[in-house]
Amino acid sequence: MRAIQIPRLDGPRAAELVEIDEPEAGDAVLIDVHAAGVAFPDALQTRGLYQHRPELPYVPGAELAGVVRSAPAGAHVVAGDRVAALTMLTGAMAEVVAVPADQVFKLPDTVSFEAGAGLLFNDLTVHCALRTRGRLVAGESVLVHGAAGGIGTSTLRLATAWGASRTIAVVSTADKGDVARAAGATDVVLADGFRDAVKELTEGRGVDVVVDPVGGDRFTDSLRSLAAGGRLLVIGFTGGDIPTVKVNRLLLNNVDAVGVGWGAWAMTHPGYLGEQWAELEPLLASGAVTAPAPVVYPLERAADAIASLEDRSARGKVVVTLRS
Ligand SMILES: NC(=O)c1ccc[n+]([C@@H]2O[C@H](COP(=O)([O-])OP(=O)(O)OC[C@H]3O[C@@H](n4cnc5c(N)ncnc54)[C@H](OP(=O)(O)O)[C@@H]3O)[C@@H](O)[C@H]2O)c1
Repeated sequence: MRAIQIPRLDGPRAAELVEIDEPEAGDAVLIDVHAAGVAFPDALQTRGLYQHRPELPYVPGAELAGVVRSAPAGAHVVAGDRVAALTMLTGAMAEVVAVPADQVFKLPDTVSFEAGAGLLFNDLTVHCALRTRGRLVAGESVLVHGAAGGIGTSTLRLATAWGASRTIAVVSTADKGDVARAAGATDVVLADGFRDAVKELTEGRGVDVVVDPVGGDRFTDSLRSLAAGGRLLVIGFTGGDIPTVKVNRLLLNNVDAVGVGWGAWAMTHPGYLGEQWAELEPLLASGAVTAPAPVVYPLERAADAIASLEDRSARGKVVVTLRS
């Protein structure tokens, strides 16, 4: 079968298209893959910069969508089902993938394979952030950094469905602002000077929740942008630096800095992924939440797809296609 492999830790451009053997099904679900999602950890892993370091060579890709070829007896899916699946954290960019049944989810008919491939990794992280760790309640306001990225657009698609009254997108360029608006942002502000813009928009009150996949030097201004009782959700560090926080800021304004490690939470809470999907799937099936509208690359251009996250040129979610 065709697959993408990372043979050495030289960054996304090292990705190459290869022929390798199909996996054995074992007691897993065997899936004919139509599309695979690209997430920031895919880029970090190509340089050995992510906490999970697979042995070389490895097939990248944390999520996919396709059709079940075979499933173990008693599984909740059967041959022919359209599904999305998580590989936790590599292996998705291949024509055939074997995945444990509890990481496979039936895809609503309304969601295409391309959208489905870009769904789980970010939407389940954002579910963990807003619902489980961030305690979002109806009527609260949400600000999201990196708003035109994967986590960003996912936050904008989902926050309103889970009660947010206002969603403020922080982006680095005006064209990324258009992407954020299309994903559902009620307001867009530029990263440069975002604190003053948020102060003005909220008439000095601040926001209830900040979703932060960027980190770096914005962190302190994010804390300052919280209303009393607000939560800053620490998701990632695309900006490069891991910020430090003077905890007097938490005390002075009664705010929380909250860690969100979705993978670690799922691994220590059996059944959690299924519970998350049970909340998300009806919203997608009914159209209450729109499916992602990804930027699509053919498999041959997987290196470009992964590089677009590293060089910050990606707009919205990025996926690669393996079958039409
Ligand atoms: N905690 C968890 O459980 C969890 C789960 C999934 C992902 N993550 C993390 O979430 C983060 C975002 O992932 P993603 O897939 O949304 O990435 P993405 O699609 O590439 O979006 C990241 C955004 O970060 C911003 N950014 C700021 N400085 C950047 C820089 N120097 N290089 C690249 N981007 C920069 C960019 O927006 P602007 O240009 O507008 O600033 C970009 O749109 C990653 O760190 C990832 O590891 C965490």
